[in-house]
Amino acid sequence: MRVRLMNDVDMKGKTVVFREDLNVPVKDGRITSDKRIRAAIPSLKYALDRGAAVIVLSHLGRPEEGVFSAEDSLAPVAARLGELLDSPVPLVRDYLDGVDARPGRCVLCENVRFLKGEKKNSPELAAKLAALGDIYVMDAFATAHRAQASTEGAIRAARTACAGLLMAAELDAVTRILHEPARPLLAIIGGSKVSTKLEVLENLSRRVDQLIVGGGIANTFLKAAGFEVGTSLYEPDLLEASARIMADAAARGASIPLPVDVVTSKRLASDSVAEVRAVDAVRPDEMILDIGPKTAADFARRISEAGTVVWNGPVGAFEIDSFGNGTKVVAEAVATTGAYTVVGGGDSIAALEKYGCSDKANYISTAGGAFLEVLEGKTLPAVAALEARADS
Ligand code: 3PG
Repeated sequence: MRVRLMNDVDMKGKTVVFREDLNVPVKDGRITSDKRIRAAIPSLKYALDRGAAVIVLSHLGRPEEGVFSAEDSLAPVAARLGELLDSPVPLVRDYLDGVDARPGRCVLCENVRFLKGEKKNSPELAAKLAALGDIYVMDAFATAHRAQASTEGAIRAARTACAGLLMAAELDAVTRILHEPARPLLAIIGGSKVSTKLEVLENLSRRVDQLIVGGGIANTFLKAAGFEVGTSLYEPDLLEASARIMADAAARGASIPLPVDVVTSKRLASDSVAEVRAVDAVRPDEMILDIGPKTAADFARRISEAGTVVWNGPVGAFEIDSFGNGTKVVAEAVATTGAYTVVGGGDSIAALEKYGCSDKANYISTAGGAFLEVLEGKTLPAVAALEARADS
């Protein structure tokens, strides 16, 4: 993958437009996690330090196009951005005909998803957004799977388009996982449903040396392998697909190690009684809510012996402590292995945080859907557009 990087472009005295993903959770007007805003700061500071006038574009939520809604306004983001940049950041509501941007100062434009044509990637809108500045920096990896006017469209329309520092770091991490992994390459894919991660599982089972499945996904794989899973969440329609993934992986010498023991309960509640059972001893009125200690130790050993580890999704209902041990052991193993480690997805990141391991992974992606699409083996439209503009 070859893209032009922002640090290869002279920004002095230029107006630089950044597409960031500042789509942060906001509750009652308050930002509950500013991680994505913090992740954008190095790129913005880089340009500001070089005397560029900085215009930032982002979406927030999924508002109806053409209609302003206070709930989806970037106002709280502008305030936080100003705090992090140590300089107030004005929020501009009407900006398509130009923005009063000053060298060394940053301006945030209101939610691009209020603009008609954003979702459908209108060429007219893309051209207007690109024309706001001399240079268009795509730094929103978390939105790179959307071919929209402010992403794919504006990159193609800009006079000069390049990748920001965050985008470059994300691309570097995914390249190291999927294209140049130190072997063995081990993926941990957890979550409730095979159906939402089917393409991820199919693609990874063709690339990895080991694929650990967790949560409801593991239940479906266990059922497909002939085990009784009681009242556990599993997907009958996906049994055949799960069996095929296991057979294909085995045929190419890769392994999908299934749990040998599990933690079960009759209910998923903080006061329910947790039992450790051998995987072939799950009772008809019980559900599997975590991997057992033997399985956790086995997974930790595999993670410690890997060359590259990618983790998306917990292996149990870790939000309740009685079902959190498996995810805790996995998080600690990811934190301590000598392998190159990349973690993506809100739940796995929350697990790293819960178990005090968040600063110990080599790379934590800011993306949700875009990270999954990369793991599915897809080329993201905004990345393809950046590649197409590498020399022009
Ligand atoms: C995300 O939160 O995954 C990105 O901001 C993309 O948001 P979207 O799914 O609404 O396009």
